[in-house]
Amino acid sequence: MSVTAIVGAQWGDEGKGRIVDYLAQDADMVIRYQGGDNAGHTVINSYGKFALHILPSGIFNPNTLCLVGAGTVVNFSTMKEELVAVNKVGLDGSNLRIDTRAHLIMPYHCMLDGAEEQQKDAKWAIGTTKRGIGPVYADKASRVGIRAGDILNPDRLRTRLEMLIPRKNRELEYYQLPAVNLDELMDLCASWKKEFGSRIIDSLPVVRDAVLTGKNIIMEGQLGIMRDLDWGIYPYVTSSNPTAGGTCAGAGISPRRIDAIYGIVKAYSTSVGGGPFPVELLDEVGDKLRTIGGEYGATTGRPRRCGWFDAVAASYSCWINGFTGIAVTKLDVLDSFETIKLCKAYQLGDEVIDYVPETALQDIATPIYEEWEGWRCDTSEARAWDDLPAQAKAYLKRIEALTGAPIKMVSVGAEREQLIIID
Ligand code: GDP
Ligand code: IMO
Ligand code: MG
Repeated sequence: MSVTAIVGAQWGDEGKGRIVDYLAQDADMVIRYQGGDNAGHTVINSYGKFALHILPSGIFNPNTLCLVGAGTVVNFSTMKEELVAVNKVGLDGSNLRIDTRAHLIMPYHCMLDGAEEQQKDAKWAIGTTKRGIGPVYADKASRVGIRAGDILNPDRLRTRLEMLIPRKNRELEYYQLPAVNLDELMDLCASWKKEFGSRIIDSLPVVRDAVLTGKNIIMEGQLGIMRDLDWGIYPYVTSSNPTAGGTCAGAGISPRRIDAIYGIVKAYSTSVGGGPFPVELLDEVGDKLRTIGGEYGATTGRPRRCGWFDAVAASYSCWINGFTGIAVTKLDVLDSFETIKLCKAYQLGDEVIDYVPETALQDIATPIYEEWEGWRCDTSEARAWDDLPAQAKAYLKRIEALTGAPIKMVSVGAEREQLIIID
């Protein structure tokens, strides 16, 4: 039994949800450690197909305690909608808890997110999910945020809101948005308390006891390193740390207690939203990857930008995250390609570099590719390493070598069992 972090190794949407859903069959606890309902984690299992935004992907195992951790930001209105979807398939969701320290996404955060984005021109737009993520984390960092535990204590909540509302209304007025009002917000929080109050807990003793008694704990990341607040393509990033370091702060587990860190790596690259993306293919190859891979956002439905596998980004990710292993997802999407390319370095002026430079330089970096022979056969039925064609094995071994961590899993389809586990 162990503590395992599941981390997005690229630009997000690598298939974290499906890997967590698989591992959760055998997990005592799944903890979402950062982000909010900007996530879209697709899970396909015997209950159906779901795009989970804030519920941890262990929610389908009633024996797994699903914790929305201290480092997250929660919109209780969308959480309620998600629980309804889970209830519809006969699960009561009674295994869900929220840490008292999680910050609350309020209606004004979403309004401000949309307005701030609208002000930017095309070059500087982040392309946020408009779920209020930037504004709520800004309030957290400014120490004026409202936390889940605050709604359990109406007097404290009222005082905090009274302090905050004039400030928020100044911001809203600047964007010509309607002002918010104390009584309406108090009523909204009262309805959230009624719905979720009994699930808001101090997760510390629960997580501590689980770690100390050797329980099987999965920490589920949101997004990926290239949109990390510190190590991503700033300013085109989210406002939290999806990286392995973020797990410790967000879940309240010391780095010394983590046994495994798995990077989830798509067999090619996708990115949704603004910012540099050196391997982007604006041609029919990119279109083909998008069509076969179904590369449309699980939260916003936006078409994802597509390109070949970027080993520069993957090895950077491995270094910062310290992967003990990787799961390569969506191998089957490459089944019909005659040749497959892989970016092994960036050309930057006269220089060739093998690491991800800071954002402004990524804008002018051009990928240097190597070519691999495609396998041109169906891999979706493969369930063991030796079921894979030789060319696919060679391609995967190259990904492993360039990334710098052993492959532990390969997925060949979106369903729970379409997975190869490698000892
Ligand atoms: P996440 O945000 O990292 O959980 O990933 P998303 O759910 O946003 O995006 C992954 C997409 O790929 C979803 O539509 C999944 O159903 C799908 N998917 C996951 N693994 C595989 C796979 O091995 N093969 C194929 N074809 N689709 C997959
Ligand atoms: P999962 O967890 C892919 C992108 C947005 C935008 C930037 C900031 O499913 O991998 P935000 O709403 O966080 O302020 O947007 O990050 N983004 C994602 N891209 N997958 C996600 O989540 C994303 N969540 C946010 O497109 O560029
Ligand atoms: Mg996603």
